Amino acid sequence: MTPRLTPLLRCLAWLSLPLTASAADVTAAVSSTPVATLSIDATASAGRVSPLHYGLMTEEINHCYDGGLYAELVRNRTFRDDDKQPAHWSAVHDATLALDRTQPLNAANPASLRVDIRASGGGVANTGYWGFPVTPSTRYRATVHAKAAAGFTGPLTLSLQSPDGSIVYARAKISRLSADWQAHEVTLRTARGITPTTDTRLVLGTEAPATVWLGLVSLFPPTWKDRPNGLRRDLMQMLVDLKPAFLRFPGGNYLEGDTIDSRFKWWETLGPIAERPGHPCPWGYRSTDGMGLLEFLLWCEDMKAEPVLALYAGYSLRGDYVKPGPDLEPFIKEALDEIEYVSGPVTSTWGARRAADGHPEPFPLRYVEIGNEDWFDKSGSYDARYTQFQDAIKARHPGLKCISSIGNEQPAQKRVQSRRPDVLDEHYYRKTADFLKDSPTHFDSYDRSGPEIFVGEWAAHETAFPPWDKQSKGLPATPNQWAAIGDAAWMAAMERHSDFVTMQCYAPLFANLNDYQWRPDLIGYDALRAYGSPSYHAFRLFSTHVGDEILKTTFGAGTSVQGSVTRDSRSGLIYVKLVNPLPAAQSLRIDLAGGRPLARTARVFTLAAAPDATNSLAAPAKVVPVASKLPVSSPSFTCDLAPTSVTVLELKPR
Ligand code: AHR
Repeated sequence: MTPRLTPLLRCLAWLSLPLTASAADVTAAVSSTPVATLSIDATASAGRVSPLHYGLMTEEINHCYDGGLYAELVRNRTFRDDDKQPAHWSAVHDATLALDRTQPLNAANPASLRVDIRASGGGVANTGYWGFPVTPSTRYRATVHAKAAAGFTGPLTLSLQSPDGSIVYARAKISRLSADWQAHEVTLRTARGITPTTDTRLVLGTEAPATVWLGLVSLFPPTWKDRPNGLRRDLMQMLVDLKPAFLRFPGGNYLEGDTIDSRFKWWETLGPIAERPGHPCPWGYRSTDGMGLLEFLLWCEDMKAEPVLALYAGYSLRGDYVKPGPDLEPFIKEALDEIEYVSGPVTSTWGARRAADGHPEPFPLRYVEIGNEDWFDKSGSYDARYTQFQDAIKARHPGLKCISSIGNEQPAQKRVQSRRPDVLDEHYYRKTADFLKDSPTHFDSYDRSGPEIFVGEWAAHETAFPPWDKQSKGLPATPNQWAAIGDAAWMAAMERHSDFVTMQCYAPLFANLNDYQWRPDLIGYDALRAYGSPSYHAFRLFSTHVGDEILKTTFGAGTSVQGSVTRDSRSGLIYVKLVNPLPAAQSLRIDLAGGRPLARTARVFTLAAAPDATNSLAAPAKVVPVASKLPVSSPSFTCDLAPTSVTVLELKPR
């Protein structure tokens, strides 16, 4: 008789196979043990999957916008990154550079770059965000705010070139410079046959001695939907492929700022880019605010995602807070005005401003979050601040749902007591092993009648080091398959409870691989290329295979497989999501009670790899889902799960 082995023992049995074991030995070793089981109750829905369940969280971190999604290519375009020197700019040939506060572009951008060119070929070069992405047959749109000392009218030449200037990929000329500030727009086009590269710089130069002042230099490649001041196409495609239902913005810590003064001042992020001052971002660099409130909203619109707007609520990261009461009133007005900008009619003050900015149609807005991670506020003022915000918001917008930034993962005494928030935002950054342990039961004790739960930040880390630990610095920005296993187990837990876990989003979304402050991140990139981590692919498998009904699932005692099952009430398709954390294949017997008889074949999507396997710029598709078919039958069938894998079965009714 075959001994009954627990999954762990079966895994050990697998590991003790001789290295020379053939595939047949391996199959025999696994299939000779009793199978793990999953029972699915398809007789009735156990709850409604929130249509908003899968979404995205975003903020300026890891060069997520500047040097990331926001497609601007010129770094330090208004010369505000450093008060003392023109950071990321350097002189070319016989020229000198200086920040000049006597010739400001405008009040928002009080220093210009003075370029004294002494001989033909002199000028100034920009590094871009670790190079400019030069690709064949590409049109780049440049905007330059410039003026010149009397007597010089141009031309000023812009060129994308190799760092030593020996190769020029594209060039354009600006003429008719004058002694007054003027905005010039030109197009640079690359030739067909060039090899894509980031080993490049942007040079602005003259063919004769001259003194030129630059107030803003901007260069955009083709953007998503060709929007001016738009977003990078490859990264947007990766996001659209996730079919996100919402976008949480603008943070995260980025909302709060290090200090009250460096909070996200949404009104300063509107209007022409030349008039945006930008502000210091708490992640160690300055934000241009090119990615402003309207750009966030258009981003939502382009992804068909709904905005989940985080409102600054009077607490900043270094511990400054605004006392509840009269001191907080101006901040509440800021928030109400922001809501009006997003969703007010054109007849309202801020709705009219939105219309003037080019979007008369109000954006849909159903959820606002009051602050971010306010459990860090040691003054204990959140309860009163939250109350003041919620009361003011509900008085003006009774239908808006208010999200508290403190959830059940925090001690009860920190949570809001004076009001009942509509939604609680919970954050979980955990080791894969911890997610695997907690996921089977985590939400079981929650009150299904509310408040709704928004898991507004979560991610598994595969190492012992949480993202804020010094020892996580220097590790790769994007995680490996082992992290994706933890992510998938956690997503399955949230999805099983997606009637009250109404929204969830991984964080952070993006990392520029040249400079990141936090790992792990879902998507990695440089100026030219991008890839999804195994976690990205796990998320995509989940977010694109989801029905509207939760089906009750029971895993047999002792099985280590975790998962979630949903059904689409219209098509009858059943989505079975399975996570095998073991480094050995497992056979899972699936018993389906009730529901319609199944078609004979199911589609299967498998993300399987060794725990330490990962993707990178050099090997972007090492770990990606593979599609296959599985013969199935009602009411029972067996499914073989690959070692350390995430599998989605699509069961079709006959
Ligand atoms: O996602 C990174 C950071 O983690 C967020 O800015 C903050 O809200 C959390 O602490």
